[in-house]
Amino acid sequence: MSYPYQIKSLEQYHTDYKKSVDDPEAFWAAVADNFYWKKKWDKVLEWNFTEPKIEWYKGGKLNITENCIDRHLPTMAEKPAIIWEPNNPEERIRTVTYARLHKRVCQFAQVLKNNGVKKGDRVCIYMGMVPELAYAVLGCARIGAIHSVIFGGFSAQSIADRLEDAQAEFIVTCDGAYRGDKIIPLKAVIDDALIGNKLVKKVIVYTRTRMPVSMIKGRDIWWEDEMEFAEGQVEKDGVVSFPAEEMDAEDPLFILYTSGSTGKPKGVVHSVAGYMIWTAYTFVNMFQYNKGDVHFCTADIGWITGHSYIVYGPLAAGATSLMFEGIPTWPNAGRFWDIIGKHKVNILYTAPTAIRSLMSFGDAPLAGKDFSSLKVLGTVGEPINEEAWHWYNENIGNKNCPIVDTWWQTETAGTLISNLAGITPAKPGWATLPLPGVQPIIVDEKGDEITEKDEHGMLKGNLCIKAPWPGVLRTTYGDHERCRVNYFATYPNLYFTGDGAIKDENGNYKITGRVDDVLNISGHRIGTAEVENAINMHSGVVESAVVGYPHDIKGQGIYAYVIYNGHHGDENQRRQDISLTVAKIIGAIAKPDKIQFVSGLPKTRSGKIMRRILRKIAEGETENLGDSSTLLDPEVVNEIKDGKI
Ligand code: WTA
Repeated sequence: MSYPYQIKSLEQYHTDYKKSVDDPEAFWAAVADNFYWKKKWDKVLEWNFTEPKIEWYKGGKLNITENCIDRHLPTMAEKPAIIWEPNNPEERIRTVTYARLHKRVCQFAQVLKNNGVKKGDRVCIYMGMVPELAYAVLGCARIGAIHSVIFGGFSAQSIADRLEDAQAEFIVTCDGAYRGDKIIPLKAVIDDALIGNKLVKKVIVYTRTRMPVSMIKGRDIWWEDEMEFAEGQVEKDGVVSFPAEEMDAEDPLFILYTSGSTGKPKGVVHSVAGYMIWTAYTFVNMFQYNKGDVHFCTADIGWITGHSYIVYGPLAAGATSLMFEGIPTWPNAGRFWDIIGKHKVNILYTAPTAIRSLMSFGDAPLAGKDFSSLKVLGTVGEPINEEAWHWYNENIGNKNCPIVDTWWQTETAGTLISNLAGITPAKPGWATLPLPGVQPIIVDEKGDEITEKDEHGMLKGNLCIKAPWPGVLRTTYGDHERCRVNYFATYPNLYFTGDGAIKDENGNYKITGRVDDVLNISGHRIGTAEVENAINMHSGVVESAVVGYPHDIKGQGIYAYVIYNGHHGDENQRRQDISLTVAKIIGAIAKPDKIQFVSGLPKTRSGKIMRRILRKIAEGETENLGDSSTLLDPEVVNEIKDGKI
C-alpha cells in the first residue's frame, strides 16, 4: 500500500515539483492533511530569511507522538514498529509492536512527569542503541520536553558543554553500551560530565550491561523502577493512556548539536510540525516506502540521520524500522548481510564509509548471504565515490535495486536533494534532483547566481537554497544571532549550506564537499577549529592547525600540524598524549589520524594561517602549493613539506 503524498512516476515528480514551487502553501497544506492535528493551522507559511523567521503551519496544534504512534493503533497495533537487533547475534531479538511502543512511550512520559519534567524543559539523552532510547526520545515529545540526544562517542567534556548550553536539568542514560567486543561505560562518562554541574536534578539510568555504576542518592534513579511504578499509573483495566501535550506547530521538538567552522558546536533547533512533515514526506518518497516494508537505517540515533530515518520519519509513516545496536564488522564483516537475510530487510540505508570499509574485506563475507529481500539501497552523509557505488550496486543490490544518494544536513531535518528510488534516474556519485519544495541555487563568492558553464559544461560554486522547506532549522538554541550569521548572512536572502556543488545540463546536482572549515570524517561532521582547540589544551602544545586529507575508507582524515614545546617522551608518545587529550575534550571520533610536529606554521603578515598550503601538503601535493609571497616566513613551507608524514 502506498501513501497519498507518494510520487509514483517521473511525470508526477515534475508536476509535484512545479506545484510545490508555484504554490507552496497549497502543496504543503495538502501533504499535511494526511496527518493528525488537534487543531488545523491558520497559515501554512510565513517567512523571511533576514531575521530569519520561518513559521510553518502557524496556529496548528498537534503532538508528533500521536502521529507516530496513536493514529496507527486502530489498524496496526500488532504490526512491528521497531525491530531491534542486538549487538550480540546470539541474544534475543526484540520486536516492538505499535501497541507496545505506545505503552512504553506513555509509561516513560509518566516517568518524566513523576520526576518533575515539564513542557519546554531540556532532557539530555546519552544512551546506546537500545529500544529504550526511542522510548526516551518519544516520551519527551509526548510531554513536550525538548530532547537533546548526544552520540555515545562524545566525551564528558563535550556533554558538559552541551548540558550547559541547553541548560538541561534531566539526563537519561544507560549503565553501559555494547559496541562490538567493547563495553562503553556511559554512566561513568555522565558522572564525569556532572562534576561541578549544579543544574541537573535527575539522571535516569537504564540497565543494559549491568556493569558497576555509581548511583548518587536523590539524583540517580533506575529506569526499571520508575517504569514499573509508572505502569500502574498509565494502565487501567488493560487500557493504556497518557495524554499527549498539545504543542504549537512551531514549538521546538529537539536540539541536536552539530559542528560548524567555529570552535563551539551549535544547538540546531527543529520544530514539531515542519520536522514531522518533512521527515515523513522525504522518507516515503525517496525510499518509495510501502506499508509492510522493513527499513534498515544503520545510523546511530545520536546523529540526525537516526533521528529522522530510524525514529520520526518511519514511525510517522507507520513503517517498520530496524534498529541495530552493534557495528558492521563484529563478530565479522558479514554482519549487515546476516541482518538483511534474517529480518528480510527491504531498504538498506547506510554511509559510504561503511560501504568502503565492508568492501575492503573482499568477497568472502558476502558468500552465502541472502540479499533477495532488498528493494532499495541508500547512502547518506558524504559523497560516494563511483567505485563504492558500483560495488554496492553489484554485490548488495544485485544490479536491480535503485540506489538513492541522499544529500542533506542536521540543519535541514531531512533530505533536500536525492533521486527517488525507481522514479527519478540515479547517476553514480550524484545526489541528482531536489525534492519538491527545495529550490537550490549555485552562487559565486559574492552570492551571485552562477550562469556560466565551466570547461566540462557544468555550473560550479557554492550551494544555497532560495526558499524555506518545512524542515529548515528555526534557530540555534539560546542564540538566534548565531543562526542568522551562520546560515543566512553569508548571502542575503539565501540559506547557505556550507557545501560546494556542481550542476549538469539536466539539472542534476553533485555535492563536492564542504567549502568551510568543517571536516567530514566517516560521515561525521567535525570542525577544524574544534579539533585545534582540543589539541591546544594539551600542556605541551603551543599552537596547531588542522586540515582534512583524502582517506580511503573514512572519506576524510584529520591531519594536525603541531608546534610543541614540551619535553615529555619521544614523538610517538607525544602524539598519543595529544590524541588522548582530544579524546577527552571532544571524543575518540575527533582523534587526529596524523600529527606532524613543526617549528612554525605558514602565516600571513596579519597572522592568519594559510590553510590552503597546509591542505595541499596533507593531500600529498609537493609542487603547486600556490602563492606564498605573502607569507611572513616562506621557508617554513619547505620544512613542513619535508617533514610530511
Ligand atoms: C555531507 C548528515 C555528499 C555534506 C545527513 C553536508 C553529503 C554534511 C551527503 C552534513 C551526500 C551529507 N553527498 N555529501 N549524499 N549527505 N553530506 O549534518 O557536506 O551530519 O553538509 O548531516 O554531510 O552532515 P550532517
